[in-house]
Amino acid sequence: MPDKINSQPGLDAFWMPFTANRRFKREPRLLARAEGMHYYDQAGRPILDATAGLWCVNAGHARPKIIEAVRRQVAELDYAPSFNLSHPIAFEFASRVAELTPERMDRIFFANSGSEAVDSALKIALAYQRVRGQGTRTRLIGRARGYHGVGFGGISVGGIVKNRMYFGTLLTGVDHLPHTHDIKRNAFSHGMPEHGAELADALEDIVALHDASTIAAVIVEPVAGSTGVLLPPKGYLERLRALCDKHGILLIFDEVITGFGRLGAPFAAEYFGVRPDIITMAKGLTNGSVPMGAVAVDRRIHDTILEKADSPIELFHGYTYSGHPLACAAGIATLDTYKEEKLFEHAAALSPYWQEAMHSLRDAHHVIDIRNLGLIVCIELEPRPGKPTERALEAFEAAFDAGLLIRVTSDIIALSPPLIVQKPEIDKMVEMLRTVLAKID
Ligand SMILES: Cc1ncc(COP(=O)(O)O)c(C=O)c1O
Repeated sequence: MPDKINSQPGLDAFWMPFTANRRFKREPRLLARAEGMHYYDQAGRPILDATAGLWCVNAGHARPKIIEAVRRQVAELDYAPSFNLSHPIAFEFASRVAELTPERMDRIFFANSGSEAVDSALKIALAYQRVRGQGTRTRLIGRARGYHGVGFGGISVGGIVKNRMYFGTLLTGVDHLPHTHDIKRNAFSHGMPEHGAELADALEDIVALHDASTIAAVIVEPVAGSTGVLLPPKGYLERLRALCDKHGILLIFDEVITGFGRLGAPFAAEYFGVRPDIITMAKGLTNGSVPMGAVAVDRRIHDTILEKADSPIELFHGYTYSGHPLACAAGIATLDTYKEEKLFEHAAALSPYWQEAMHSLRDAHHVIDIRNLGLIVCIELEPRPGKPTERALEAFEAAFDAGLLIRVTSDIIALSPPLIVQKPEIDKMVEMLRTVLAKID
């Protein structure tokens, strides 16, 4: 028999996303407000945010400049369409984003989430291949254990079985590279793992199977986040770039979590020194305050699509809320905050401390691996025999009760604090985690 629902009063209607609804609604955890590094529950209890919400609140919570910008904007111009009409701050914000992306990757398409940014990027890649006379290139290549949101495009190129198996045949013509996680060779690596650059060569096998003339694009997260912080081995991204170049395949970096300072640089592309053709972003774009996603496109792709268009509208794609005024206002204030407070530099300067502090948990109960990069860490736990995910879910609940917000996925704890984090808060996270891990079975 399925679990009876037995929700607490008032909790039935909201069908929560990616949530154990029955479990939650019996014992809900409700947040009431947030400021700086903390959430506060309804009783006013502080909860230290070790996850920047969901990897999005990079400048910390309730930043005055962002609040003021959104307040002003909603009173002045609450909504304006961007179909054959628009408003000035959409252009201003696009230019500001383009200042942070790699050179000449400065044509910005706005969406409303990471999932939409991914689907937009895949469609732009396909349209580009078609208009440049390579219309047979329709295949999209993702990677095992990749997460690219929940649109049909994103789950098709994504590599997480539960996100795929319930939803039919997905997009056809998709293939996957192997993931880069190799705990046997790379456990407890500090920063980028040594082993596994050769995994990029699997693209050659895919080309051999399908022929390059059928492949439009490869999409990868430079650092895979949702699937449990899988880091690129040294040399891997360079190799993937070289193979894409060799075969005329576009390379898309999904930077929804790595964008906006997470690794101490504006984008992972800069951090790793590898230039993709398209970058997707969301989350830190507006500090999580107003939903927004975006795609940064290489000028040559954008210009080709515009120049070769066979009708006045060059790209038949867009959203009612593309370039939404509130999101653009929040985004400009967010970028100002990052810049004025030098938050990307702060993240870079703090990441060695973060690394050492987190690796001190190596001997904590249940820990089988720790891996880190920038202000990201993954603490992988040994799963309970026959009961995968349970231990980490209990750790999540125990941490929350103790006043610490962590993120768990399978038996992995992933931390990605707001970039305003300071050393005493990092120490506190480590101490609380050690206590939580000692407490659970
Ligand atoms: C790499 C990556 N791509 C896409 C997404 C989807 O973003 P959203 O949940 O805003 O649709 C996420 C979300 O975590 C992500 O981590």
